[in-house]
Amino acid sequence: MEPFTIAAPAKLNLFLAVTGRRTDGFHDLVSVVATLDFGDTLRVEPAASLELSCDDPAVPADESNLVLVAARAFAAASGWRGGARFVLQKRVPAGAGLGGGSSDAAAALVALNRMAGPSFALPGARLAEVAASVGSDCPLFLDGGPQVMRGRGERLEALPARAAARLAGRRVLVFKPGFGISTPWAYGRLAAAAPGSYLASAEAEARLRNWVDDAAAPAERLLFNSMEGPAFRKFPALPLLLEDLRGECGFAAGMSGSGSACFALLPDGADAAPAIALVRRAWGGSAFARETRITVR
Ligand code: C5P
Repeated sequence: MEPFTIAAPAKLNLFLAVTGRRTDGFHDLVSVVATLDFGDTLRVEPAASLELSCDDPAVPADESNLVLVAARAFAAASGWRGGARFVLQKRVPAGAGLGGGSSDAAAALVALNRMAGPSFALPGARLAEVAASVGSDCPLFLDGGPQVMRGRGERLEALPARAAARLAGRRVLVFKPGFGISTPWAYGRLAAAAPGSYLASAEAEARLRNWVDDAAAPAERLLFNSMEGPAFRKFPALPLLLEDLRGECGFAAGMSGSGSACFALLPDGADAAPAIALVRRAWGGSAFARETRITVR
């Protein structure tokens, strides 16, 4: 088989309501997740064993990397015993809430399912189960966004087409400070502040339905994130910059996932440069800042 390359896009949570803690320790959520026209790429070629290299020396390319975790999980689930060499071109920052590791893992699953051939390839539903075993955000990336995510992230539903059309092609500025936020830490802080830190699931569903049903409601009206509470208390640099972006640029802005990456929705024709300058002034010249777009499958 010839080597091939698979895109591993980043995601944004435009809406993320954490509705409560489950008996298995995970949290239930209701989220609208959009995939972006920006991300990592995973090149795959046949090899004797499973191997990974990455162009970013800061990213561990050992067995802890979700690409190899996913590859091992695929082999265990399918019985496929082949090998593959993965070359990961890393563009999505880690510890950001942008789903980079989960997207890489999903790309590895799609690649191996293609390489394994008809005797070993898994049906879509089984592949999604394997993805969920790798990470809560991983199944989303098998199909891409925008989708509504429920449960701990494994219950996915396409956003109704008319609502998805309001997101399609929307320009966004994604930015991240020099530090990341650990997802288990963020969920732990939410649990410690329970029950006030959760949004009741009926309320979350009602907010989502109101936005979906209101054909005139722009993406700006959807923004909500339960995880901003703990993140903003520990890292006031996040809400300070978001307030400046709202006040000085007039952009709707929020945090993605458990952070620390944030984003601003750019109105049609708006210049991103003043917003990028604000990011650099607040968080330093080396802060990550990238203009991209929401994609629709
Ligand atoms: O599934 P993933 O590996 O991304 O989850 C990392 C951690 O984040 C979990 O161990 C759990 O502490 C927390 N989490 C959660 N509820 C979710 C997703 C993640 O509590 N829906």
